[in-house]
Amino acid sequence: MLRVPADRKVNVGILGATGTVGQRFIALLADHPFFVVHALGASERSAGKPYRKAVNWKQTDPIPTAIRDLLVHPCSPQFFLDCAVVFSGLDADVAGDIEGAFRAADLAVFSNAKSYRRDPHVPLIVPLVNTSHLSVIPQQRSLHSPPLEKGFIVTNANCSTTGAVVPLAALERAFGPIESCMITTLQAISGAGYPGVPSLDIFDNVVPHISGEEEKMEWETLKILGGIAPDGAFDMHAAAPLRVSAACTRVPVLEGHTETVALRFARRPPPGPQQVRDALRAYVPEACELGCPSAPEHAVYVHEEDDRPQPRLDRNFQRGAGVSVGRVRECGVLDIKFVVLVNNVNIGAATSSIINAEVAIAKGIVQL
Ligand SMILES: NC(=O)c1ccc[n+]([C@@H]2O[C@H](COP(=O)([O-])OP(=O)(O)OC[C@H]3O[C@@H](n4cnc5c(N)ncnc54)[C@H](OP(=O)(O)O)[C@@H]3O)[C@@H](O)[C@H]2O)c1
Repeated sequence: MLRVPADRKVNVGILGATGTVGQRFIALLADHPFFVVHALGASERSAGKPYRKAVNWKQTDPIPTAIRDLLVHPCSPQFFLDCAVVFSGLDADVAGDIEGAFRAADLAVFSNAKSYRRDPHVPLIVPLVNTSHLSVIPQQRSLHSPPLEKGFIVTNANCSTTGAVVPLAALERAFGPIESCMITTLQAISGAGYPGVPSLDIFDNVVPHISGEEEKMEWETLKILGGIAPDGAFDMHAAAPLRVSAACTRVPVLEGHTETVALRFARRPPPGPQQVRDALRAYVPEACELGCPSAPEHAVYVHEEDDRPQPRLDRNFQRGAGVSVGRVRECGVLDIKFVVLVNNVNIGAATSSIINAEVAIAKGIVQL
């Protein structure tokens, strides 16, 4: 397992610490082997208050004792200079400026917001897929004037994109390029933050539109599954063009996005359902090989039962750090279809940032 010396704890900061994702960071980091929450940041509404008074705590476990009375700061780098890692669960409306200022202050930022996902020098990393993209960090640092020594921004993907790309990466590794992919999502309410979708809109209902979500899934998938050209540019899967069509809906589920996926491989004849199940089970990403403590045992857990995965039953399996797949079968239009479940707040958000930071430490990109 990845280790830092026993006496070496790693200070981390959390921006947006009072929000849905920020609270999950705090819950997940409570028993982390080496990350220690050192500084918290949120809006001016929360700054200056002890955390327990600033937050509307919605997690199952109580606020960790060490965090209850920690003072919430404004999101200004001066309060985070002792942090080797800064996690961001900031609202996208403010994340761009704040995270940019943190990077300029030579801080290592791991963000959940969409603000830098399309930046050509910022890696968009799903930790169970493309940790190799951390290789662009030296280039990102060198573009800053003066060049940064420690600072950078890494983003993780939209929560629905994360669920889809893990099995897609496993299948591309086993069977070569995927040519086209159709995804329909049934997304949980917590994906919209707190208080999220009004109850009168979501009870007894399905909302067939989530603003910007389909575009994110279609674009982010290409950046994540693509490679890096010799000049350091993300190639967007250019060598084998991949077409992705997403349809995103909001459903009355609290946590856990379900997605139905159908795909066509470039290779003819395509693999059958049993070969696909075997390939998904055999998939071991770099984060697992490195022994990252927050990585799941199974990047993709494949269910045999016809009625799984289900959000209520399966979203907390492996602390929500892996992706569940079920109902792998032939598709009458494309080649193969299956169902995916991803915990949108864990591997869809906070857990992704935490594993990305663990990998960055293992690779010496975050200097301790
Ligand atoms: N929820 C999910 O499942 C999910 C999944 C993947 C990615 N994301 C992304 O993660 C980010 C956070 O989402 P969320 O669901 O946690 O949102 P949220 O519950 O609305 O929390 C937003 C956080 O941002 C802080 N904030 C708002 N305005 C601020 C300002 N002007 N200055 C400093 N801090 C400010 C809030 O602090 P106050 O409490 O003080 O207002 C709060 O801590 C978003 O970019 C979202 O798109 C969310």
